[in-house]
Amino acid sequence: MSQIEEVNINVADLTAAIAGKSIEESLAFLAEVFPGQIAFSSSLGIEDQVITHFIYSNNLPIRVFTLDTGRLFNETLTLLHNTNKRYGKKIEVFFPQTEAVEKLVNEKGPMSFYQSVENRKECCYIRKVEPLNRALKGVKLWITGIRREQSDNRQSLAPIEWDNNMQLFKYNPLLEWTFDDVKTFVKENHILYNPLHDQGFVSIGCAPCTRAIAEGENFRAGRWWWEDSSKKECGLHTH
Ligand code: ADX
Ligand code: SF4
Repeated sequence: MSQIEEVNINVADLTAAIAGKSIEESLAFLAEVFPGQIAFSSSLGIEDQVITHFIYSNNLPIRVFTLDTGRLFNETLTLLHNTNKRYGKKIEVFFPQTEAVEKLVNEKGPMSFYQSVENRKECCYIRKVEPLNRALKGVKLWITGIRREQSDNRQSLAPIEWDNNMQLFKYNPLLEWTFDDVKTFVKENHILYNPLHDQGFVSIGCAPCTRAIAEGENFRAGRWWWEDSSKKECGLHTH
């Protein structure tokens, strides 16, 4: 019996099956276990550029998509263009529903997210969560670039998890990498990255909701900086 046939599809078995494998090997293995049902969501942040590199440079049959919220930095969109060119691929782009964005902006204005956590979550839902749900339709294994070090909420994660909310498996290949590990790998492999990372932007999201951080500040201090830190998740990842 092949290694794949022996795997019962549950978290424990998937975790055991990839133990000792490199990230490339794990991705290739999971692509065989979930043919046509495996996708990577890239924000084009530096971690995600590493995973895109693993997928594209090994020609793995894994969909790569990004959510264009309509509020991204120009540098992020330039990086999308250059990444496609570098690998000769096209990262799939999902946009929010036109009518929902028009209603939001016409009723509450273009900066409603600064007014309350509720408004901010409404904007994140329209611009990120709903498009993510569409992007993940039919997907059984979702790959993300989450690292444990990024926030308190991410401390208890495992490399392979069951996402009850989305009803799919999640694989976080860089979970244990430090920011230095990521930067070193990017440098050694000449991976393209957002120039904003060199200007103090560690975690990069939408332009109006992301700022640079000072040395020693928490990784996510630059995201939704006007909010209480316990609320700083946008709804893509619920734990
Ligand atoms: S967020 O929850 O605060 O927005 P973060 O920026 O830390 O997320 O990124 C964590 C992971 O979420 C990324 O590695 C990526 O897999 C996914 N992600 C975040 N933003 C996007 C986006 N705009 N498009 C696709 N995936 C995204
Ligand atoms: Fe809207 Fe800001 Fe969320 Fe982007 S990060 S979707 S602009 S609230």
